[in-house]
Amino acid sequence: MKIRIGLFGFLLAFIVLACSKPTPNGRDRMTVVVDSVLGQMTLEEKIGQLNLPSAGAFTTGAVESSDIAKKIEEGKVGGLFNIKTVANIREMQKIAVEKSRTKIPLIFGMDVIHGYQSVFPIPLGLSCSWDTKLIERSARIAAQEASADGINWTFSPMVDISRDPRWGRISEGSGEDPFLGAAIAKAMVRGFQGNDLKANNTIMSCVKHYALYGAAESGRDYNTTDMSRHRMYNEYLPPYKAAVDAGVGSVMASFNEIDGVPATANKWLLTDVLRKEWGFTGFVVSDYTGVSEMSAHGFGDLQTVSAKALDAGLDMDMVSEGLLTTLMKSVKEGKIIEEQITQACRRVLEAKYKLGLFDDPYKYCNDDRARTEIFNTSNRAEARNTAAQSFVLLKNKDQILPLLKKGTIALIGPLADAKENMTGTWSVAARFSESISVREGLQKAVGSNAKIVYAKGSNLDADEAIEERATMFGKSLHRDQRSAEQLRNEALAIAKQADVIVAAVGEAAEMSGESSSRTNLEIPEVQIELIKALLKTGKPVVLVLFTGRPLVLKWEQDNVPVILNVWFGGSEAGDAIADVLFGDVNPSGKLTTTFPQNVGQLPLYYAQKSTGRPLADAKWFQKFLSNYLDVSNDPVYPFGFGLSYTKFVYSEIKMSKVEMNTADSISVSVDLSNVGTRDGAEVVQLYIRDLVGSVTRPVKELKGFQKVFLKAGETKTITFQLTNELLSFYRHDLSFGSEPGEFQLFVGANSRDVKQSRFTLR
Ligand code: BGC
Repeated sequence: MKIRIGLFGFLLAFIVLACSKPTPNGRDRMTVVVDSVLGQMTLEEKIGQLNLPSAGAFTTGAVESSDIAKKIEEGKVGGLFNIKTVANIREMQKIAVEKSRTKIPLIFGMDVIHGYQSVFPIPLGLSCSWDTKLIERSARIAAQEASADGINWTFSPMVDISRDPRWGRISEGSGEDPFLGAAIAKAMVRGFQGNDLKANNTIMSCVKHYALYGAAESGRDYNTTDMSRHRMYNEYLPPYKAAVDAGVGSVMASFNEIDGVPATANKWLLTDVLRKEWGFTGFVVSDYTGVSEMSAHGFGDLQTVSAKALDAGLDMDMVSEGLLTTLMKSVKEGKIIEEQITQACRRVLEAKYKLGLFDDPYKYCNDDRARTEIFNTSNRAEARNTAAQSFVLLKNKDQILPLLKKGTIALIGPLADAKENMTGTWSVAARFSESISVREGLQKAVGSNAKIVYAKGSNLDADEAIEERATMFGKSLHRDQRSAEQLRNEALAIAKQADVIVAAVGEAAEMSGESSSRTNLEIPEVQIELIKALLKTGKPVVLVLFTGRPLVLKWEQDNVPVILNVWFGGSEAGDAIADVLFGDVNPSGKLTTTFPQNVGQLPLYYAQKSTGRPLADAKWFQKFLSNYLDVSNDPVYPFGFGLSYTKFVYSEIKMSKVEMNTADSISVSVDLSNVGTRDGAEVVQLYIRDLVGSVTRPVKELKGFQKVFLKAGETKTITFQLTNELLSFYRHDLSFGSEPGEFQLFVGANSRDVKQSRFTLR
């Protein structure tokens, strides 16, 4: 029998318990508090805690819950997302803690993906900084701003490895490599959660999309994935595990199926691996309508899939209301037991406890913080600096860059004066009208020292319908109704007056991101026509390339003298672009994905396996070797690639010894010299190849990286420790360990241009 307690009894009980000492039976305080709350709850109320409706704006599907306030009052809501501002959140929290019977506070989620109002580069761009401290700080600032606006839970980081740039969501992750991906996953979790979730400026992180979402067949979003366990463990799971190791508070199940079972109800994934193998103790939330979508997968009706999801280890249902509306029936029919619901509810309550919401449900509702901590000068300065670190200089013929702040610069292209597009996909809190466009950034940088002349030059795409899809969510490029020829001619007239042409071209913000897959990865043809016309003027042309994914840039690499890839750099992108174009910042970003020659090569990634008939160093084409008739196996730009305004030279590799055992390590170093005339940063990369294994190993695997700053003329010794852990991998039986034998070792500026050595593991 349940004991009813007075109106404010619950809240009081939490506070009293939270403050009282000591804990009975050695149980920790959280367990004592959560046990006490659970003891007062009805089964319906426990089910209510598992429900996560969307509060409205920024939905990525149908809004399936109406009358949210009433549901909160009835105890049918555990948290809300897509709601912001202290006033709005306070209002909802008030209903929960004053009007619902249990008085349990709500958790408030949001996709705080790459900054909040101060927007940082899209995650793929951020990863190209290879600077985990910088990335951690960006997450810290995002958490600070979001928490000042009432939010305490973010659906980030997205750590899905992807090797198929057709998939639009490659923009939301850290690229193709598990080692780098794992390091970034940890940095982001640390940034969001800080050292203390009880502080009011840290928020709970939710690693997503667990798992393998980035391996969708054909790069089509939400599509099936299928891969061996061997590949999962070695190549796709490490970043999720790294987030768990870093203490991430929650995990989001992915939309895709794995081994024929949707991730949302995949017990092997959500319980055996996540909880039993990795020791995860937080809660698991579905993705948006991930529960009800299992019916479309062909996995059963809503009641069936909801019961399966709970049984598999899912704790919270985003938007479907499958758990809310069917679990009671499933208990009555004996399909699940009450204890399973209690367990899921416990995990949700524990998250609220960890966030300190039982002590103070309004902890994140402070009007003063919102006024001073969001989009302030220092956060914007950090976003600007971070953006500049994310840009990748792909080509710089004749050192055309950096530009001088003098003469006349023609700024041309559909992305040149496009404030709304600067922040890229998933920037739901951005203030578009205050983002810095390239035009503004350049103008500000040159002041009266140079003249900037501007023309749009072309629309994004000749096809109006495609342009519309690519500029959703208020990110219009303000389509010009003039013909392509008229726009081009206007641009050419402008270009004639100039000493140099800066062409801001590429993708629009929503050409990547969710449900934005492409089969053609070239810059839209109408823009290529514009670039060709600009090249014909004979003036130097600098491509400032906007993109959310690796593009096919074969023609551009062959024909355009300068290409600076700027991804989507965030709210301050325009200033950051000016910083790099004029050399106030020396570019140091390096690609974290391979750029292919054409779509037919996909998936293309550096850490491939050797076939039995590798082309290896042989010249393309060779009959009966593993290659194509029509194009070589090479990428246009390899993983790890990126240029600088200065020049770095690597010495040969020096090693402390050439043999080690499993308890040992080898210290590996190179002397890196900046032989150019400018200061700059270089990302030194270490790769290995395990030449023989009980399962075959990739031809190269990243096992270390260091971003180092060198003054012009300076030389530094860069040292890595090769440990047994770094040589270990998951074998066929999924045991983890190293195997004795010969290894190749590579150190260099990217995955292609490396110095080599060898060592032996005894
Ligand atoms: C996306 C998630 C996102 C969620 C909530 C889904 O459509 O796949 O990444 O966190 O919506 O907005």
